[in-house]
Amino acid sequence: MHLSQLEEWVTCDGLPLLIRPIQASDTGALRDLFKSLSMDYACETAFAAVGRLDRAEALLGVVRLCVDPEGRRAEMTIAVLTAEQGRGIGTLLMEKAVRYARGRGIAELHGMVHASNARMLSMARRHGVTLLSHPDGILQMSLDVASVEIATPCLPY
Ligand SMILES: CC(C)(COP(=O)(O)OP(=O)(O)OC[C@H]1O[C@@H](n2cnc3c(N)ncnc32)[C@H](O)[C@@H]1OP(=O)(O)O)[C@@H](O)C(=O)NCCC(=O)NCCS
Repeated sequence: MHLSQLEEWVTCDGLPLLIRPIQASDTGALRDLFKSLSMDYACETAFAAVGRLDRAEALLGVVRLCVDPEGRRAEMTIAVLTAEQGRGIGTLLMEKAVRYARGRGIAELHGMVHASNARMLSMARRHGVTLLSHPDGILQMSLDVASVEIATPCLPY
């Protein structure tokens, strides 16, 4: 299917809107969108891995947690800059999320991952994530926060 087939014009509150797949040229607009959001740390938390690339500060990866109203479960999403993947940043961010969850009494982290996402699955399995298959190639991840072994201790700053 061509991506243009996923485009749709709709009207929302009197405003004509084009709903279309996101594209690389949206980068600046996405940044503006995120800047406009204020985060409610009671139900949403995000940690960024910030490093120096070519002598400039850069955001190398982000882990986001969306905590349910009871505060016992949180949905986790992680993304690492493509060029920096495979060097342990995703692991660090996931373990940061686990340590944060422990401190807040969150018992389970969960999320969805495609069956072809070898890197995420490798990282998930190493941390004892339980995977439940859905028929459409999606796996449901569930992580028991208490049982995770933290492999990468943080150095004192
Ligand atoms: C999934 C993701 C967050 C992992 O981050 P990362 O920094 O690459 O992770 P790490 O380097 O800590 O470890 C990744 C694992 O992939 C393994 N790996 C490295 N290169 C690999 C490759 N080409 N194929 C498969 N596995 C690979 C690493 O050995 C490591 O495995 P291990 O846990 O068994 O040691 C990152 O790849 C990403 O941002 N992907 C795009 C967004 C995404 O898919 N997010 C997950 C959905 S929530």
